[in-house]
Amino acid sequence: MSLTQFETVSQRDRRWHLHSQTNLITHESDGPLIIAQGDGPYVIDSNGNRYLDAMAGLWCASLGFCNPRLTHAASRAYETMGFYHTFSGRSSPAIVAAAEAIGELLPIEDAKIYFATSGSEANETMVKFAWLFHAANGEPQRRKIISRKRSFHGSTIAAASMTGLPHMHREFGLPLAGFIHTEAVDLYHGRLPGESADQYSTRLAQALENLILKEGPETIAAMIAEPVQAGAGILVPPKDYFGKIAKILERYGILLLDDEIVCGFGRTGSWFGCETVGMAPDMMSMAKGLSAGHFPISAVAISPRIYEAIRSISAHGSNLGHGFTNSGHPVGGAIVAETLLVYREMNLPRHTSELGARLFAQLREIADKSPVIGDARGVGMLAGFELVADKHAKRAFAPEVWANARLEQIARDNGLMLRMQGDTITFCPPFILTNQHLDEIQRAFAATLHSFERDVREVAIP
Ligand SMILES: Cc1ncc(COP(=O)(O)O)c(C=O)c1O
Repeated sequence: MSLTQFETVSQRDRRWHLHSQTNLITHESDGPLIIAQGDGPYVIDSNGNRYLDAMAGLWCASLGFCNPRLTHAASRAYETMGFYHTFSGRSSPAIVAAAEAIGELLPIEDAKIYFATSGSEANETMVKFAWLFHAANGEPQRRKIISRKRSFHGSTIAAASMTGLPHMHREFGLPLAGFIHTEAVDLYHGRLPGESADQYSTRLAQALENLILKEGPETIAAMIAEPVQAGAGILVPPKDYFGKIAKILERYGILLLDDEIVCGFGRTGSWFGCETVGMAPDMMSMAKGLSAGHFPISAVAISPRIYEAIRSISAHGSNLGHGFTNSGHPVGGAIVAETLLVYREMNLPRHTSELGARLFAQLREIADKSPVIGDARGVGMLAGFELVADKHAKRAFAPEVWANARLEQIARDNGLMLRMQGDTITFCPPFILTNQHLDEIQRAFAATLHSFERDVREVAIP
């Protein structure tokens, strides 16, 4: 395609397209970055520039951006049946195969799988099922949901309320009443001087219990947590954190909802993040890696005791009052079943833990030499490197340095797509990286940090 045609795409984008999570005013002048094509772990922009996307897009394209197996699965499914639904007991072979393939991997025995289209919808579904569970058990007053500060759980109203980020709340008048937040686990910034990881997690568990007692345990339905807080900058909890949290939740009859939307399907080096961090949830939400980003589909897995409570509603003749037109789309189902088969053939948890360890070691080698990286953390195929202006004081760059935008742009100039989450440079690459790709990421990361260090020195000297 000619350049003119792509410039036209850029103009048309500004004219017609309203973007998610974008500064709308700067977008009017800067315009979009048009990504026109995928090639394994690379994406190619409208000017022909190639980038190794070390974020798998938005934490999702675990098998890269153009996977022939998934393309064929989708095209076969479309040829068979382009749509059907799952209301009133309808089903399709493809969605049954997907539910079965998920169920066989889950750490929850005899789970039931519910389908939706996005991570936000899956998390909203878990909230509604938690309310149903308590109502069916004679405790309809249990409505409150606890989540953690700095967490991301999605953009719909309950999901955004559970999210712990001010810009997701401010102008929207959120969170809704009854959505309350406890502390995030941040070993780098959160610990008191001399506090061990064990003492820290005990203090966090105590803070949770204090919140529960203040709010009234009999009013609280559930707590939602990601095993590793990805969007908060790859916050990996201490080993015993979830064990301590679970004891408190059990004490007060509060359900534990596991947001596996980033962590699920090998991302943390286990099939599910909850297995990596020792969390035993009542429900799990999944999306992103579920279809390797190749279809908008999400799922919720519920344990038998949740199912028992929910099904009791039908004993009074009532349908489950929940559902989306695209809950259980057959093409999505076919893509999920094929994605999970590909993961199995890759020997996934072992593959991602080994590949992730090599990736982290290579990135860490660069980060350790850099004066602007204060902390390095990672698990499986997730890695985070916290950017600091002052290592000793653990101080971030002043806003006028535009450190985040500057770093992302320099990385792009070096052919590397990565993302700043708060002050943390995050990596969440596809699982299909070869040793050459790892070396390429390492070289681009080193070049990015060198240019960034030079740049910010110049900004700091008037
Ligand atoms: C942990 C987590 N939960 C939920 C969501 C929301 O998913 P979606 O954007 O598909 O609604 C995201 C999206 O990034 C996420 O990272």
